[in-house]
Amino acid sequence: MKDILILGIETSCDETAASVVKNGRHILSNVINSQVQIHAQFGGVVPEVASRQHIENIALVVDQAFADAGLEYQDIDAVAVTNEPGLVGALLVGLSFAKGLAWSLQRPLLAVNHLHGHIYANMLEHEDIKFPAVCLVVSGGHTSLLLMQDINHYQVLGATRDDAAGEAFDKVARFLGLGYPGGPAIQKAAQEGQAGKMKLPRVFLDRQDYEFSFSGLKTATMNMKKKLEKAGELQVCDLAAEFQQALIEVLVEKSLQAASRYGVESILMAGGVAANQELRSLMEQRTESRKIKVFCPSLSLCTDNAAMIAGMGYQQFIRNCYASLRLNAYPSLSSL
Ligand code: KG4
Ligand code: ZN
Repeated sequence: MKDILILGIETSCDETAASVVKNGRHILSNVINSQVQIHAQFGGVVPEVASRQHIENIALVVDQAFADAGLEYQDIDAVAVTNEPGLVGALLVGLSFAKGLAWSLQRPLLAVNHLHGHIYANMLEHEDIKFPAVCLVVSGGHTSLLLMQDINHYQVLGATRDDAAGEAFDKVARFLGLGYPGGPAIQKAAQEGQAGKMKLPRVFLDRQDYEFSFSGLKTATMNMKKKLEKAGELQVCDLAAEFQQALIEVLVEKSLQAASRYGVESILMAGGVAANQELRSLMEQRTESRKIKVFCPSLSLCTDNAAMIAGMGYQQFIRNCYASLRLNAYPSLSSL
């Protein structure tokens, strides 16, 4: 059978990324131009700056993806692009570029939901995932728990009522003066500190459902900081460690409850927060004695990349689910 080569393009936030993936599995190139340093000086992503950076970088990044894969533009079978959710101006840069490419090469355009891409990142590296599976989606903008029948079919068991997990990391890091992006900054500080020296709430852990809430934890962390500061007892690293522990315990316990209720043998993790080392090891630790296998993408495929978009695009390609050249970009999620 002929190999299927898909070009993926991702510009939903602050990474301009392009990748060529063969048969939905084999990454031939994976180019990521990160704007993190530029946005760090503002303490977070500035949408207008992100769009302009994408415009400057997109052609170079796509060229590099072809060069790394050793391919010509004409070699690809389709162009997959993230069209939701994300910063709309940023999405439009990738989408417009993808449309132009698809039209000029006379290849199909494939519309990929960014979060489906994050979930698919697991399929790029693991061939032994047993479905049904529970999937914990934890990114900067979303947090949900899914029950997946297979890679294309799932139901949402629960989601956050307020802040996403990554958003809580980012906001707390900023408040603690740890910088941006917050997740890696808190993880690093927490390694120098110790959880449990003070107690922060494990929000919704006592509930028998799969809903999350991180806004209260964020406020409790801020109040704790003020209290300790007043008493002259503030150790930022200890507070970061307790915040991280409080958040990941809820993620892990809810995932385990869902896995046992639905009798699944696999838990998948997806999204930027899945790069958190403590979360990964707590999930491994708590599943060790049970018949549950944990799957996470490798660190570089947890955060935003275009290989996951090309991979998910392949799933649409083989089903002939092509997008029209009228495809639009949407800032919020139509499903998940
Ligand atoms: O998936 P992602 O790259 O972008 C979105 O789709 O939102 O996720 C970005 C989020 C940010 O909130 C960032 O702070 C968080 O993932 N993140 C982490 C870690 N690395 C990235 N959170 C906790 N620990 C990490 N090591
Ligand atoms: Zn993402």
